[in-house]
Amino acid sequence: MAIIGAAMASCTSNLKLNENNIDAIVEAMTLEEKAQLIIGVGMPGIPVDQPVIGASDAGKVPGAAGFTATIERLGIPAIALCDGPAGLRISPTREGDSQTYYCTHFPIGTLLASTWDTELVKKVGTAMGNEVLEYGGDVLLAPAVNIHRNPLCGRNFEYYSEDPVVTGKIAAAYIEGIQSNGVGTSIKHFAFNSQETNRMNNNALIDVRTMREIYLKGFEIAIKEAQPWTVMSSYNYINGTYTSESKDLLTGVLRDEWGFKGTVMTDWFGGANGADQVAAGNDMLQPGRQTQYNDIVKAVNEGTLSIDDVNTSVKRILTLIVKSPTFKAYQYSNKPDLKAHAQITRQSATEGMVLLENKGALPFGANVKNVAVFGNTAYSWIAGGTGSGDVNRAYTVNLIDGLKGAGYSVNDGLKESYLAWFEKEEQANAEINNERRQSFLPSLLPREMKIENSVLAKEAQAQDIALIVIGRLSGEGSDRNLAGDFELSKDETELIKNVTTAFHARGKKAVVVLNIGGVIETASWKNIPDAVLCAWQGGQEGGNSVADVLSGKANPSGKLTMTWPVKYYDHPSSKNFPLGKKAAMLNMKFDGQTRSDEKDVDYTQYEEGIWVGYRWFNTKNTKVSYPFGYGLSYTSFEYSNAAIKSEGNAIIVTVDVKNTGKVAGKEVVQLYVSAPKGAVEKPSSELKAFAKTETLEPGASTSVTLKVNASDLTSFVPAENAWVLDEGEYIFCVGASSRDIKAKLNAKLGSWKKQASMAFTAR
Ligand code: BGC
Repeated sequence: MAIIGAAMASCTSNLKLNENNIDAIVEAMTLEEKAQLIIGVGMPGIPVDQPVIGASDAGKVPGAAGFTATIERLGIPAIALCDGPAGLRISPTREGDSQTYYCTHFPIGTLLASTWDTELVKKVGTAMGNEVLEYGGDVLLAPAVNIHRNPLCGRNFEYYSEDPVVTGKIAAAYIEGIQSNGVGTSIKHFAFNSQETNRMNNNALIDVRTMREIYLKGFEIAIKEAQPWTVMSSYNYINGTYTSESKDLLTGVLRDEWGFKGTVMTDWFGGANGADQVAAGNDMLQPGRQTQYNDIVKAVNEGTLSIDDVNTSVKRILTLIVKSPTFKAYQYSNKPDLKAHAQITRQSATEGMVLLENKGALPFGANVKNVAVFGNTAYSWIAGGTGSGDVNRAYTVNLIDGLKGAGYSVNDGLKESYLAWFEKEEQANAEINNERRQSFLPSLLPREMKIENSVLAKEAQAQDIALIVIGRLSGEGSDRNLAGDFELSKDETELIKNVTTAFHARGKKAVVVLNIGGVIETASWKNIPDAVLCAWQGGQEGGNSVADVLSGKANPSGKLTMTWPVKYYDHPSSKNFPLGKKAAMLNMKFDGQTRSDEKDVDYTQYEEGIWVGYRWFNTKNTKVSYPFGYGLSYTSFEYSNAAIKSEGNAIIVTVDVKNTGKVAGKEVVQLYVSAPKGAVEKPSSELKAFAKTETLEPGASTSVTLKVNASDLTSFVPAENAWVLDEGEYIFCVGASSRDIKAKLNAKLGSWKKQASMAFTAR
């Protein structure tokens, strides 16, 4: 179909886009050109039910997820939109070109958040954004900030936390870092995208208070603080309307209330009707479908879509384009400093690892020279999750090589058996894994190899300490399972037991290392080994980072940004989560016609409301395996001199933190607030601020300042459609975790109210 040819032929003009003539450009564009700019240029190789419009000149960054169209006669270049969020995702090789285009695989989002260190996250973002710039990209499709509503969401590894304040602050730092390079970000997936099962058509049913306080708050904080260039709407419906077609969400909340000035784009192929999307304020429909183009042109011609709405979206896209490196003709090198970035990922990963247990096993003492390593994942280290959040990295350092690099001798007597075992398992899983990979789903990992007790006894005699690595892989398009995923498999539990028994029999220790992207069950086995380190998935240098922590070269200073329950079913959201249901990508439909009535697949009732994560567990005093905010260190800290004062509309809490142990370390200080009773039921306390100290040498102390605005202490009261601060006594709790409170301070506050500017019904 000829879309813009006829119009272009008749318009000859010298008008070319610049920063000051956007209105004139919009005026000069034909409706067809506007529709083309709005929908992007399609994506080759993806099965769609309609042909996409191709624009062959947009391929300057092979492997980018999407482009805008080039409109040559008006000087409008195509800009490149690339995934994110663990680094830039582009094709590593190009036909007929011997150069490689690998990108650094940085730590997953969950690990970055577990650092609780906004400066560090900004530094990582700055390095990542430099790769976007130097490889010719314009916008990184990141950060991904959906809330960890349930531990089994397959994409939790990309997301930050069960808490919106951690989410918002970490996201703001990440955005600032990336955008400091003069490239854009796309905070995603806006919003309520808490499961992968039927993700393109799931209807999230959520009450207004929960939307505002839990699922929108993180976006609100990040967008107001860091002004991302773009926002990516999500696939799902919210209360019956696709988010990409919700004017309440994209115009009412995002723009009118929060003041967002940038461009909104859809998630890839998301939503149904192009005209409805534009009318809602969803400016760009990526990567673009023929039907969406037709919808827009037809609706304008028939008067059901106002040309003003189209012009507004086009203006926003042009405003984005003129800010882009492509428009500024930035001469990118295609040679970012990958070596320097490898150092950044190596170091940052150590700061987000969480030491869960330690009975004197870590760091390795001077007597540890020979290390016995067990578990598949030690040999096939997992850098990050799968899907668009994966990165085409040049290499992954596994744990064995990391340990060797740190000067340990490692028992690779088992290496051959492990490699042979992987081959056998891959053969057994070949059919299902082929299908899964084709559908962009994570492949099944090999089962854990059984090791004879006699072999273990020999190892225990020869080596100084044992490591047992447990790995998990998840990714876009499917949610996780309970058996053998959230829970350890029988083989894994046996491995932990048998290795520990063999080493204890020789008076030696055994340590479990978790190379995982999301929460697993730990309560039933965590007391067996002598230490448990949650290493998360730390990117391409993962094995080196873990070795740095095990050896004591780095002191782990991460803390959990989500609760680790005793049992999966302790999470109230487990009543309404698609456990074991069909994967989304296998059921990919673009027409919005697939909804039926299957619970948790076609619709998901967020029945638990605001009672997500620690808000539930702590209020109900439920036993957990590890609480929100928890994490050990190789040193210890003492809190003293906690004080509170008010400053204008803000409350300032200060506290001294002293390193009372024997090695240098950093501490994450958290501020929780308990609010007085009001019209709505409130959690026992909520996180309102946090800070991480600089490295404190033994004996050194520092003063930490935590600031909370009175408006941060409000609850959303649906009956008033307002954020309400109830009058009364507020208790400010300074903690090392949500269940390790070091000081409590009181403040009396008067009432205050901020009316929401619109009633959010998600229409
Ligand atoms: C994912 C997005 C991603 C986009 C482009 C979608 O399937 O949900 O997170 O940015 O694809 O690759």
